[in-house]
Amino acid sequence: MLDNNLIKVFEKQQTPFYYYDVDLLERTLDAVNHEAGKYGFHVHYALKANFNDRLLKLVQAKNLGADCVSGNEVLKALETGFDASKIVFAGVGKSDSEIDIALENEIFSFNVESIQELEVINQLASEKKKIARVALRINPNVDAQTHHYITTGLDENKFGIKVWELEDCITTLKELSSVKLIGIHFHVGSQITDLKVFRSLCVKVNELNNWFEERGHYLDVLNVGGGLGIDYHDPDKNSIPNFAAYFETFDQFLERKPNQEVHFELGRAIVAQCGSLISKVLYVKKGIKKNFIILDAGMTELMRPALYQAYHKVQQLSGNGNRERINYDVVGPICESSDCFAKEVPLFETKRGDLIAIRSAGAYGEVMSSRYNLRDEIRYVFSNDN
Ligand code: LLP
Repeated sequence: MLDNNLIKVFEKQQTPFYYYDVDLLERTLDAVNHEAGKYGFHVHYALKANFNDRLLKLVQAKNLGADCVSGNEVLKALETGFDASKIVFAGVGKSDSEIDIALENEIFSFNVESIQELEVINQLASEKKKIARVALRINPNVDAQTHHYITTGLDENKFGIKVWELEDCITTLKELSSVKLIGIHFHVGSQITDLKVFRSLCVKVNELNNWFEERGHYLDVLNVGGGLGIDYHDPDKNSIPNFAAYFETFDQFLERKPNQEVHFELGRAIVAQCGSLISKVLYVKKGIKKNFIILDAGMTELMRPALYQAYHKVQQLSGNGNRERINYDVVGPICESSDCFAKEVPLFETKRGDLIAIRSAGAYGEVMSSRYNLRDEIRYVFSNDN
């Protein structure tokens, strides 16, 4: 809950900034651990959603693993205290030096996206006299029914190994002595709110799990990726995603073989709701057809609306009384027409200096910010700051 009492705290700060609610983050992490723990599931936090140092520390303190997509993320996870034995490394284009970092630190597993990558990892591992543990990222052709920019599991996407390539993959693996196949990995997309998508994923995973077993490959790990969505429309009512239903779906529909581990890579569901972008109204423009609120935050601080037409709730923190609502387009100061947070939002009459919160911005917000227009680096405030 973003209480209007926070205004006093926010007024002392220079806007714009990200505000992180530590209590909500911790309760979210406790919920993840509690629900995943019921089934012995392993959860890796996807650093790509937010790698703010202080936030990472809080995640790490709750003993999650880490899911990284670059050598720098692997290093950051290690620096923060994540155990190497709980780090997975994914990505369709891992460079040699990034692979080296992961090999030197003996991470838990590489999620491998192509046969060529398998060969490269094998070569680099053999030079270091190491054995790399790998999980094959398989593209299951499951439609995540989410925005096409964040759908990853379809045949037309660049991600993963296609099912028809698996035969070749197995043949190649037999020739590679410095990689060890430990499992299979999937990730079908992000912001998935319909659990039926995960059920369909389970069906595919089961088929493939059997396929490998029939060919004499026992897999220790089934990694089903991340993707659980959040409620952007009502962040106060649903501040913690329904982890119980999510993990239960996998418990019910995934056919685990004896001692097989199930791993998850959750980003958004863990950190989105604890973060808000706090901004001040710079100007109000009244037009004939449209009214605009021009904020001091823009697409440089939160890119999702411009990039994916993503919805984020706009909450007025100051200035609301018992007055009529007016429709405003809420825009940023950047010289781009796409620099718009939301159109036709009914808000109380707003004036210069009012504070506005853009909600549910803890995931893919701060990390995707940029210095375009030579903007200041985005600041952040934690609820437990003094
Ligand atoms: N694992 C893999 C292999 C991934 O590619 C991703 C996200 C995740 C896990 C974590 O997914 P999550 O649980 O957060 O949905 N920038 C976009 C989202 C991109 C997601 C990329 N992959 C956005 O702002 O919506």
